[in-house]
Amino acid sequence: MKYQMHVPFNAPAFLGAEVDCIRRAIGKGHLAGNGFFTKECEKYLKELLGVKRAFLTTSCTHALEMCALLLNLQSGDEFIVPSFTFVSTVNAFALRGAKPIFVDVRPDTLNLDEEAVARQINSRTKAIIAVHYGGIGCEMTRLTELAQRHEIALIEDNAHGLFGRYRGKLLGTFGRFATLSFHETKNISCGEGGALLLNDERDIERAEILRDKGTNRGVFFRGQADKYTWVDFGSSYVMSEILAAYLWTQLNAYERIQKQRRSIWNLYQEQLQKWATEQKIQLPHVPSTCDQAYHLFYLILPTLENRRILIEHLRQYQINAVFHYQALNSSPMGQRLGGQPGTCPVTERLSDCLLRLPFYFDLTSPIQQRVIDRVLEFRVR
Ligand SMILES: Cc1ncc(COP(=O)(O)O)c(C=O)c1O
Repeated sequence: MKYQMHVPFNAPAFLGAEVDCIRRAIGKGHLAGNGFFTKECEKYLKELLGVKRAFLTTSCTHALEMCALLLNLQSGDEFIVPSFTFVSTVNAFALRGAKPIFVDVRPDTLNLDEEAVARQINSRTKAIIAVHYGGIGCEMTRLTELAQRHEIALIEDNAHGLFGRYRGKLLGTFGRFATLSFHETKNISCGEGGALLLNDERDIERAEILRDKGTNRGVFFRGQADKYTWVDFGSSYVMSEILAAYLWTQLNAYERIQKQRRSIWNLYQEQLQKWATEQKIQLPHVPSTCDQAYHLFYLILPTLENRRILIEHLRQYQINAVFHYQALNSSPMGQRLGGQPGTCPVTERLSDCLLRLPFYFDLTSPIQQRVIDRVLEFRVR
């Protein structure tokens, strides 16, 4: 019997109260950024995470671009990135003319291989960008030590990992900068959006200017200057109040959202573990040092062909499972920037073999069970 309701890979969380908050934002007559809801969200993130400052931005991509501007990166500089990541992690820094050094990821957590990072550091290295894949923390003890010893900026692209922890400390609080994403695929979302987290007070003043087109408008609006003018580079990275109002509702409900996602993740894990071991399929590994953020649930199949067959099998039952990043070192743009195919074998295998299962706030147990039952029918060829 093939009649089934479509199961999407993702459906953005909608709690209901977002609409009231948006109405309140409209009622305040201030729809551009930096209004009541932006300030509330920023204060909430700052206090919840214990960072020095949080700035809402139009996206995680733009928060990463702000990091590159804050570092004054230029041609001749290098930055170390995992090859298994979203293009924005690299684009943001490459846009300033800096050269990406693609490093492979660990086969267990799919995070930056910290020893491979150590081997790539030289006098041109200006930054290490750590991506906490699936909201499971990188080896932050070693990465922090490397960054401090070589006086390199450590940046956490924490698009996946809000509320995750490494050795009890929240992800996003290790690096000089961290970025968050509130894109609709993320646990907490507002459609498109992000945040820049600063862990060093000295970066606050300039970050505010860069976010507001390179002007000191923030200082002017606080009454600390009698006019505002163009003082630095910058762009338009301020989030609209409408989106901040939506985000405000979601941030306030983060415990409920995270609890629900934890149950979904645990059900996948409990029901698929035995089958996965028999089929030699790898499930996510959460080291004992990490409290994860419950962002993704994935399978790593033995071959590309097995992944194709499983995607097709699930599609027959209207279940949408999707792969993830293509290896950036061998992508056309990655190669233009100096990447070489074959240099990141773990990443290249993940590009072919990793498959993400449907995972979203409203995924009900019966629907999730349908996904699990269909996955359990699959046998590796
Ligand atoms: C690791 C990582 N960094 C950055 C981004 C970009 O996020 P945004 O869409 O908010 O710009 C993504 C997008 O999914 C991502 O996976």
